[in-house]
Amino acid sequence: MAEKKIRFGVVGVGGMGSGHCSMIPKIPETELAAICDTEPSTLARMAEQTGVPAYHSHIELLESGLVDAVVIATPHYFHPVIAEDAFARKVHVLSEKPLAVTVSQADRMAAAAGKSGCAFGVMYQMRSEAQNQAARSIVESGVLGEIYRTSLVMGWYRSQAYYNSGGWRATWAGEGGGVLINQAPHYLDLFTWLGGLPASLTGETRTRLHDIEVEDEAFGLLEYKNGAHGYLYASTTEAPGYNRIDICGDKGKLTLQDGKLSLFRMDGSIREFTHNSTEMWASPNGEWLPVDLPAQGEIRGHSAITSNFARHILHGEPLIAPGTDGLPAVELINALILAGHTKKRVTLPVNRAEYDALIDELAASSKTKSMVVEQRVTDPNFAR
Ligand SMILES: NC(=O)c1ccc[n+]([C@@H]2O[C@H](COP(=O)([O-])OP(=O)(O)OC[C@H]3O[C@@H](n4cnc5c(N)ncnc54)[C@H](O)[C@@H]3O)[C@@H](O)[C@H]2O)c1
Repeated sequence: MAEKKIRFGVVGVGGMGSGHCSMIPKIPETELAAICDTEPSTLARMAEQTGVPAYHSHIELLESGLVDAVVIATPHYFHPVIAEDAFARKVHVLSEKPLAVTVSQADRMAAAAGKSGCAFGVMYQMRSEAQNQAARSIVESGVLGEIYRTSLVMGWYRSQAYYNSGGWRATWAGEGGGVLINQAPHYLDLFTWLGGLPASLTGETRTRLHDIEVEDEAFGLLEYKNGAHGYLYASTTEAPGYNRIDICGDKGKLTLQDGKLSLFRMDGSIREFTHNSTEMWASPNGEWLPVDLPAQGEIRGHSAITSNFARHILHGEPLIAPGTDGLPAVELINALILAGHTKKRVTLPVNRAEYDALIDELAASSKTKSMVVEQRVTDPNFAR
């Protein structure tokens, strides 16, 4: 007997959503059952391409009886609204990143998921990569000792043409932020998955290179509960792109750079060596160790997360990227934008009411973009 497949609806079939429409039929546990987009010509084109029922409203799709689950690939502000409507109708939700623009919206999504008993996932596909899985196991094993420093440097270049490709992009009203809310979430997710959330931070955001109203650069100085410090930089202004995470502990150091994982293990504790060594010019010893990577399955990237999500519903397989794990990245994004705009130290969890008031004020100041040349094409580096 053929194995049951999860019937997926894709809501928002632009750049990323059209990618989901091509991936879902290729995954053994999933089938594409329906699509939805509010933009008529995009919907008509994708209806012809996919041959599945097409809806202008996500409510009609959710109430069609055709879908067990939805992938939400609309601009970010709509993720929570559509997720809550899906959960209310007992439809499982796999949300694109970021979960939401504000932590208060993300809280509501998580609460609605919990109440519904439905599966809730977030599309952080980088978690499925072997080196990132291995990095997480290393941190969880405690081999690094007490963490005293973290850093994230993320340069993910974007042209002005990219920003001109959609009216919602890089506006406070349409997107709710710049590099922090659009490009950085993947690395903010990995960074907080490995290093946790800081207790407080100071930061700056600015628009240096692009003709946009939101930030194309962000910097943060982070302080953790145990007194550890961190540094964070994210921009769409730097080329060549450079992505690096460091997690430094008393007994070892882990570095992830551009998909490569390195692990240095000290022979002992730096703290103990510092106080016990009697030699004036000595340094603690250790070595770079080869890291065993888990086998990388054939299904990778977005498809790995979608397949895992379906297997979670069908067989109870643990989620690689549970929806509630999407909250820390939103928390960090909101904290940095708040710090950048108020010029004050921000403590986490972010004050929900304060951030809602800021984002409302920024959205109210948003200007309609004049140079839009609509293109709904996803980054070819990510179309997997
Ligand atoms: N995981 C990844 O690697 C990745 C990559 C790219 C984009 N994304 C995410 O996917 C989402 C979409 O980004 P994109 O680049 O595809 O944007 P896009 O503008 O190309 O597509 C968005 C589509 O959603 C439609 N839409 C807008 N409001 C809607 C609504 N209420 N109901 C139904 N459809 C609606 C638009 O008409 C458009 O076709 C964003 O949240 C983005 O962060 C994730």
